[in-house]
Amino acid sequence: MAYSTLLFQLRDGIATITVNRPDKLNALNSTVIAELGEAVRSVETEPAARGVILTGAGEKAFVAGADIGELAGQTPEQGKARSLAGQEVFRRFETLRKPVVAAVNGFCLGGGCELAMACHMRIAGERARFGQPEVKLGIGPGYGGTVRLPRLVGRGRALELLLTGEMIDAQEAWRIGLVNRVVPADRLLAEAEDLLGTILAQGPLAVAAVLEAVDAGASVGVAEALRLEATLFGLLSSTEDKQEGVQAFLEKRPPRFAGR
Ligand code: COA
Repeated sequence: MAYSTLLFQLRDGIATITVNRPDKLNALNSTVIAELGEAVRSVETEPAARGVILTGAGEKAFVAGADIGELAGQTPEQGKARSLAGQEVFRRFETLRKPVVAAVNGFCLGGGCELAMACHMRIAGERARFGQPEVKLGIGPGYGGTVRLPRLVGRGRALELLLTGEMIDAQEAWRIGLVNRVVPADRLLAEAEDLLGTILAQGPLAVAAVLEAVDAGASVGVAEALRLEATLFGLLSSTEDKQEGVQAFLEKRPPRFAGR
C-alpha cells in the first residue's frame, strides 16, 4: 500500500506507522486521517502484523494536532463530519485486537494527544510535550479528548488540561498517568519495540482477549464486564495456546504459542 502522508514498515511482527508531514509538525489533515484508516485496516487483516507502533516523523513532533488550515472555513456540518470521521479511525486503533503503542517523540497536541490516547499504551521521549489546546482556537476537542482524557488521568486533571489548553512535559504526563513511561529520545523506538516484543511473546489469543475485555469492560457495568471476562476466560481454556502455556510451565520450559 502506498501512502502519501504515512510511512508504513512491517518488521518482526511489528507494523510501524509514522505520520510523515514533519514540515507541518505531522498535523492531521483529511488525507492523514484517511490513510490512518487504511493503515489500521491493513494491520487488522495482515496476520504478519501482530502489534503496532504509531509515531511521528522528525524530532520535533509526534502530531501537533488537527490541521488548523483545514478547520478555517468549515461549516457546522463539515465540522461534525470531520470529527466523526477521525473518531471512527481512532476507535479502530483502540479496538484493534493487536497491541498498539504510541511512541511520542515531540509535540503531542490536540488531535495528536487524542490519537496517542486511542492507542493502548504510550511511551514518551523525554522532550515530548502534551496538551489539548483547542480552547485557544475557540473550539473543543473533536477526536475523543473529552472522552478519553478523563478516563486516563481523572476528571479534575483532564479538565485542567482541556480548559486551560496549556502544555505539560513528559515527566508531568507520566506523573498523572497519561504515559506509561518516559525514555531518552534516542531510545524511544527501541523501548516501544521492547515493550511490544514482551507482549508478542505471550499467547496471541490471550493478548487479544485481554484487549477485548478491557475495552468492552470500560463501557458497561461491573457485572456485565465480569461476565465478559469469565466468557473470555472460558473460551481461552479451549485453545492450544492454553495447553501449551500450562504444559510449558509444568515442564519448566518457555512456551511456543501458535495462536490457536
Ligand atoms: N495545523 C497546521 N499546521 C501546523 C500545526 C497544525 N496543528 N501545527 C504546526 N503547524 C505548522 C506551522 O504552521 C508551521 O508551518 P509553516 O512553516 O508553513 O509556517 C510548521 O508547522 C512549524 O510550526 P511552528 O509553529 O513554526 O513551530 P514552533 O516550534 O514555533 O511551534 C507549536 C510549535 C506546536 C507550539 C505550534 O506549531 C502550535 O501551536 N501548533 C498548533 C497546535 C494546536 O493548536 N493544535 C491543536 C489543533 S486543533
